[in-house]
Amino acid sequence: MPVVHFPGTRYAPIALPPHALLSRSLTAVNSPVLFGCRTGLCGTCVVAVEGEVPPPGEDEREVLAIVAPDEPRARLACQIDLVADVRISEIG
Ligand code: FES
Repeated sequence: MPVVHFPGTRYAPIALPPHALLSRSLTAVNSPVLFGCRTGLCGTCVVAVEGEVPPPGEDEREVLAIVAPDEPRARLACQIDLVADVRISEIG
């Protein structure tokens, strides 16, 4: 199962089934990731992601160009297709 890590935080890694929706699996209690719309529109869940993740779709890329134009690792957590271990951290 893919494991989501939160380096540099007090949050423990979380093992989730492949393709689990982070917006359903991560909460304010078990992760530092905040969610808003959960549909890829608001940009609240933008994070820096390291690890193997499928590339963002066109809609996600448009939002990332606005909310994190200078961060090549930026992804919207609510849009990530979880297929392997990832390391998620704050941007900035
Ligand atoms: S929660 Fe709004 S874009 Fe992810």
